[in-house]
Amino acid sequence: MDPRFGVIDKRLSNIEKIISVASGKGGVGKSLVASTLALSFADQGKHVGLLDLDLYGPSSHIILGVRDVFPEEEKGIIPPEIHGIRFMSIVYFTGDKPSAFRGIDVTNIILELLAITQWGSLDYLIIDMPPGIGDETLDVIRYIKNSEFLIVTTPSKVAMGAVSKLLHMLQELYVPILGLVENMQMAPSPYIKNEAEKIGVNYLGSIQFDQQLESAIGNGTLLIKTQFMKQLRILMDKLVD
Ligand SMILES: Nc1ncnc2c1ncn2[C@@H]1O[C@H](COP(=O)(O)OP(=O)(O)OP(=O)(O)O)[C@@H](O)[C@H]1O
Ligand SMILES: [Mg+2]
Repeated sequence: MDPRFGVIDKRLSNIEKIISVASGKGGVGKSLVASTLALSFADQGKHVGLLDLDLYGPSSHIILGVRDVFPEEEKGIIPPEIHGIRFMSIVYFTGDKPSAFRGIDVTNIILELLAITQWGSLDYLIIDMPPGIGDETLDVIRYIKNSEFLIVTTPSKVAMGAVSKLLHMLQELYVPILGLVENMQMAPSPYIKNEAEKIGVNYLGSIQFDQQLESAIGNGTLLIKTQFMKQLRILMDKLVD
């Protein structure tokens, strides 16, 4: 057995709730939801960590404006705090270089990141997932046993087609699904809510397309004030007691 398995359970043992933000589809706003969710929890005084598991295209550091920080080595590594969020990403190690990994490397990197990171005690660990049902998704289900999934889609039939596959797979594996967020809504439509009901997942609500969002990227203080954040907070209140 890989000795890291036991270490991982220990590293995650003081975390109350692990939320993996995922989607069957790319570009639907997973990273924005994950980063602002973490910001919002930190803003409420919660202890929160954010793990960017999008190894090929990490982007949470861009959204939060993480620059010139590096984890501290201390029997593993301690993630630096950005806007009150303990933040961990492959980007500390790859920098601006493209990260080209084969499947087996992906699993190894995930195991390594999980085994070395000292989160300490957290109320929430948010995981920013890459799109689809690849190694990362399967590894999170396998190695992070108490992770719950928050699923993001856009109002498009194309996105929902891919998202419903992920939802069905999670249901088949009995992985807890917190609910479905409809992001970048342009006009009200019952389509995604109806699809969620058909599949039997909780429709949490919608976030509208926010024209001001782009100018707030890279600036945590501005992100907190966006419409995107306001609407996410309303949905989030349904997630936590
Ligand atoms: N509600 C919104 N209003 C306006 N722009 C948005 C909204 N949600 C996300 N975006 C923008 O859409 C783009 C994709 O968002 P993001 O990177 O979070 O998606 P993703 O699902 O994480 O993508 P990937 O699959 O590549 O990881 C970004 O430019 C982001 O700023
Ligand atoms: Mg992303």
